[in-house]
Amino acid sequence: MKNKILVTGGVGYIGSHTCIALHEAGYDIVVYDNLSNSSREAINRVSTLIGQSIKFIEGDVRDAESLKRVFSSHQFFGVIHFAGLKAVGESVAKPLLYYNNNVSGTITLLEVMAEYDVKNLIFSSSATVYGDPETLPINEKSKRSCTNPYGQSKLTVEHILEDLAVSDDSWNLIPLRYFNPVGAHPSGKIGEDPNDIPNNLMPYISQVAVGKLEKLSIFGHDYPTIDGTGVRDFIHVTDLAKGHVAALNYLEKQTSSNESGTTKQNSVGFLPINLGTGKGTSVLELVSAFSDVSKQDIPYQFAERRAGDIASCYASADKAKNLLGWQAKLSITDMCQDTWRWQSINPNGYDIEK
Ligand code: NAD
Ligand code: UD1
Repeated sequence: MKNKILVTGGVGYIGSHTCIALHEAGYDIVVYDNLSNSSREAINRVSTLIGQSIKFIEGDVRDAESLKRVFSSHQFFGVIHFAGLKAVGESVAKPLLYYNNNVSGTITLLEVMAEYDVKNLIFSSSATVYGDPETLPINEKSKRSCTNPYGQSKLTVEHILEDLAVSDDSWNLIPLRYFNPVGAHPSGKIGEDPNDIPNNLMPYISQVAVGKLEKLSIFGHDYPTIDGTGVRDFIHVTDLAKGHVAALNYLEKQTSSNESGTTKQNSVGFLPINLGTGKGTSVLELVSAFSDVSKQDIPYQFAERRAGDIASCYASADKAKNLLGWQAKLSITDMCQDTWRWQSINPNGYDIEK
């Protein structure tokens, strides 16, 4: 068995897929989640998929006492920190909730990590920290700026991590900047399960395909892109999950163990890394690919641009390849196929009662 890892927010969409990838790579994982945006059914299904009960603790990352109990009971190599809120619109309406969860929650976690001398962290950041990019593809040195509280909360955490790395070089802090995660586990047992009407494109398309929603509104068709619709770097969630394993392997390579614990060889400091495919796909291209795969009509209408949207966004994935040896492998067709399998087997997501 490899090192023990604490996975905050591990019951959520990306966290649940990453738990499977970590288990497959031989890690011992402990999941910590307050279930504010996830379901116990996801824990059951991950347990079924990995063939053993997942170690789960219900708790909030803002609750220092609860975290201390967890750190006292386990010797962690590091933490993968997914826990946070992610809805842009809700963050505009409830900025304090977002700063409290995403920023205060991370500070509390870091304080407890420091107290227990656990200094390896992989943090869920987002391509949203790049705002409207000046040049494409976006690399890790591109300028950062955000226009909504959700994005600001991610950028603020990045600044905190940078300051922390400067203050003390025993910290190893990797913010992974995800582009647009989509898709589901190929088993069709776990996937994205948005509350209410989805804000994001892929879950919206799949709910139209399965007949839960009538038609898709495409926000803007006059962007300077291949067909006038927005272009994004969609990345399969299982590729993304493997990116976390690769980042963890990288952290482990920088450290070596002796009898008294872990001794630092190289300081990783603050090391942001994009996780994307490097390819842009337009909204219309995704609709067409999904329709081909699912053999369903996806009715759509063109609507006004959505406030805060940008024309195009895709990653330079070179740093992840060169440093972590990781590359996204799955295609847009794979992303649509796996989303469709999950959506059609589970039209109501994890809510088996609905
Ligand atoms: P998700 O909502 O499915 O998962 C987040 C999990 O964190 C949920 O299980 C939720 O219950 C838990 N959580 C929230 N606040 C918590 C708290 N205070 N204490 C403990 N647990 C808490 O979201 P996701 O899509 O899996 O995203 C995971 C992370 O990646 C988030 O931080 C998100 O901001 C970031 N991210 C997501 C995307 C995306 O498109 N999904 C893109 C970029 C970054
Ligand atoms: C959005 C968030 C971003 C967050 C990411 C993942 C905004 C402005 N940005 O990114 O901060 O990190 O989700 O949670 O909300 N589209 C439609 N119709 C729809 C939905 C989307 O046409 O019903 C279009 C959008 O205009 C965009 C593309 O599809 O061009 C992708 O949208 P979405 O899936 O919401 O992701 P982002 O906007 O890239």
